[in-house]
Amino acid sequence: MRATIRFLLGAHARELPDVDPTRTVLQYLREDEALCGTKEGCAEGDCGACTVTLAERDGRGGIRYRAVNSCIMFMPALDGRQLLAVEHLADDCGGLHPVQQAMVDHHASQCGFCTPGFVMSLATLYMAGDNPGRDDTADALAGNLCRCTGYRPILDAARAALAQPARSGDEATISLRARLDALDTDSETLAVEGAGRRYVAPRSLAELTAILTREPSALILGGGTDIGLWVTKQHRDLPLTVATERVAELRQVTDTDTHVTIGGAVTYADATARLAALHPAIGPLIRRIGSRQIRERGTIGGNLANASPIGDMPPLLLALDAVLILASADGLRRVPVTEFFRSYRTTALGPGEVLAAIEIPRPAAELRLGVYKVSKRFDQDISGVCAAFAVTLAEGRVQSARIAFGGIAATPARAHAAEAALNGAPWSAEGLRAAMDAIDDGFTPISDMRASAGYRKLVARNLLLKFHLENPADLADAIALRLDLAEGMRA
Ligand SMILES: Cc1cc2nc3c(=O)[nH]c(=O)nc-3n(C[C@H](O)[C@H](O)[C@H](O)COP(=O)(O)OP(=O)(O)OC[C@H]3O[C@@H](n4cnc5c(N)ncnc54)[C@H](O)[C@@H]3O)c2cc1C
Ligand code: FES
Ligand code: FES
Repeated sequence: MRATIRFLLGAHARELPDVDPTRTVLQYLREDEALCGTKEGCAEGDCGACTVTLAERDGRGGIRYRAVNSCIMFMPALDGRQLLAVEHLADDCGGLHPVQQAMVDHHASQCGFCTPGFVMSLATLYMAGDNPGRDDTADALAGNLCRCTGYRPILDAARAALAQPARSGDEATISLRARLDALDTDSETLAVEGAGRRYVAPRSLAELTAILTREPSALILGGGTDIGLWVTKQHRDLPLTVATERVAELRQVTDTDTHVTIGGAVTYADATARLAALHPAIGPLIRRIGSRQIRERGTIGGNLANASPIGDMPPLLLALDAVLILASADGLRRVPVTEFFRSYRTTALGPGEVLAAIEIPRPAAELRLGVYKVSKRFDQDISGVCAAFAVTLAEGRVQSARIAFGGIAATPARAHAAEAALNGAPWSAEGLRAAMDAIDDGFTPISDMRASAGYRKLVARNLLLKFHLENPADLADAIALRLDLAEGMRA
């Protein structure tokens, strides 16, 4: 067991003993290293002022750069990685980084509070050697808020700086990899203790489940994008956290002809390409989960295990009939996602169990799939309602329908009554009306700051209509539905 955290801070190796495992990277930078360029705006992953870059070995001989929120990332996550803050961007003579220079040239900063965060988001893209288009750049900045400059000058600066991003030369990559290898963080389990709190990062599923059996009160820690806020906002004490991020079996994504299986510790960022390839409706949903910073750390396993009624992955996985693989010291068991959510924030996970993988059936070519997230803001917002529809038609009739919602019940839920109304019915305005009424009757949503109960119901039924409009049985159906709608509006 190794009790010290080893990482690179810029060019300098650090080895820290006795670290409080719930100390955030932002606290460390500002208070321990006096690197105060990184700012705290919200301490909950929302504003991006605390953005820093993590560089890690990518398993293919290269380096993977991730922009992350240092305000909700705990110190042990640095182990084996390089941490870059805004102070590390200047060259050896103090000259500005091209991204910083572009921000100056394009007048992209006023009060400057948000600027280090924007710079680090852009510098991460720059280091990765990507030359993203405007949409991708906007996506990379969706987790950075600026209250005074306005985003156009920032996007102009981004375009100028990223027109010729630096592709790290082979030599720089080899040298950084060698320095990360030299930290020797892979040969032993990391077990940190400080301020009366403990953290363990097991390396295998057997080791993880043995710890969970031995220490039933241990809290499983994924990317910490939910748990981070338990500390920074709720001031909860976490005496023992057990991280999934080094468990080799939980980090895999495997493809077969019939399924894609996502390990329980795989982040959104690492799963996006494989999930998006399953169906065109999936990529746009993932793009709207949190921000780039959140998706670099947050896991799909964590999104299911926290059982939030407004999580964005459950409706999709319910509509696709995914199966969850739960692991404990006694072995593995398979639980259909439909049986996973038991009641408000309660799941089928038993004591000593971890969500090991999510098995997602490949959608058949004829499956019509729609996923819709409705929130107050397009970017970086939690859903008021999230809906997923998976329908197969045969000769103009519904052969099978799976409909799932988040945000309108205590758990993410299938709309069984609406499905029953659709199954076997013509895929037409008339068949649809019965299903929409069944959605109305089947749920009693709550009113909260995101949406009123009435709004949620209306949105849920209208999303089914939207799905139908986007997926008519044929041209005649599309015309009939629009005429029916027009008549309804006149009435
Ligand atoms: C700014 C911000 C924006 C966000 N936006 C969205 C959004 O748009 N949509 C959305 O759905 N969510 C959003 N979230 C919530 C969060 O990012 C997601 O729920 C994320 O998927 C949680 O994953 P994690 O790995 O970070 O979980 P953690 O915080 O590590 O853990 C969350 C819970 O899951 C448990 N857990 C984690 N992994 C496992 C496992 N393998 N087995 C068993 N239990 C496990 C933990 O014990 C804990 O109870 C947002 C969060 C923030 C801070
Ligand atoms: S301080 Fe706002 S995202 Fe971290
Ligand atoms: S420059 Fe003031 S918040 Fe962005």
